Amino acid sequence: MTREQARNKIIFALDVDNINEIDRWAEMLSNKVGMFKVGKELFTSAGPAAVSAVKQYGGEVFLDLKYHDIPNTVAQAMLAAGRLGVKLANLHALGGPEMMEKAVKAVRSEFGETERPHLLAVTILTSSTQETLKAVGIEYPIEQMVVRLAKLAKESGMDGVVASPLEIQAIRAACGSDFLIVTPGVRPSFAAADDQKRIMTPSEAVKAGADYLVIGRPIAKASNPKQAADTIVDEILAGA
Ligand code: C5P
Repeated sequence: MTREQARNKIIFALDVDNINEIDRWAEMLSNKVGMFKVGKELFTSAGPAAVSAVKQYGGEVFLDLKYHDIPNTVAQAMLAAGRLGVKLANLHALGGPEMMEKAVKAVRSEFGETERPHLLAVTILTSSTQETLKAVGIEYPIEQMVVRLAKLAKESGMDGVVASPLEIQAIRAACGSDFLIVTPGVRPSFAAADDQKRIMTPSEAVKAGADYLVIGRPIAKASNPKQAADTIVDEILAGA
């Protein structure tokens, strides 16, 4: 793996709520990481300007809005995401096959294969437990639900999933090598775990089969964020 390939695996979680902060991080990190994740808080506060601000510094965007709605609404929202020029966008696999298929079809027909956003499915949120599923009427074991939904996403034409590091191997085995796995819950050896519980280091996650690592605080809270990003690249390369 080259240094550039390792760097491109890092998605920095832009967990901020205003444009000035985006400018600061995008300027600082656009040649240190592969992508920036814009989530619900930032997008609800700043809107599409959040995406343009990242792109202005040459950064690519993972729009993490986890759509879950009727098929037509999700397909239209994905088209809107594509028009903003984001590279990755996601939805909830629990929305079902028709919702996923319609989103995939819409995006494939409007954008060229090289220009289109790649669509990811969230299986079961890592904040959910077996009790959470039980409360909403799902008795199926959670680990099996994750793999079942990942397979359903693949069969529906989705490009990949967002998954906990501990789920990577089972998903890779079930869905094959041609399926993106994006994982948060990654902690480099130099960083604190914060509130993340089931963690892996960057090199462990890449070895387990992750294509992209979503990393926030280990970079954002470091005394030298650029150096922290470089150290994460070193760790990925050392383990490769
Ligand atoms: O700071 P940290 O590296 O923990 O940030 C991880 C990012 O990934 C945050 O934006 C968090 O909301 C997100 N995320 C997560 N766990 C999930 C899904 C998303 O930590 N299961």
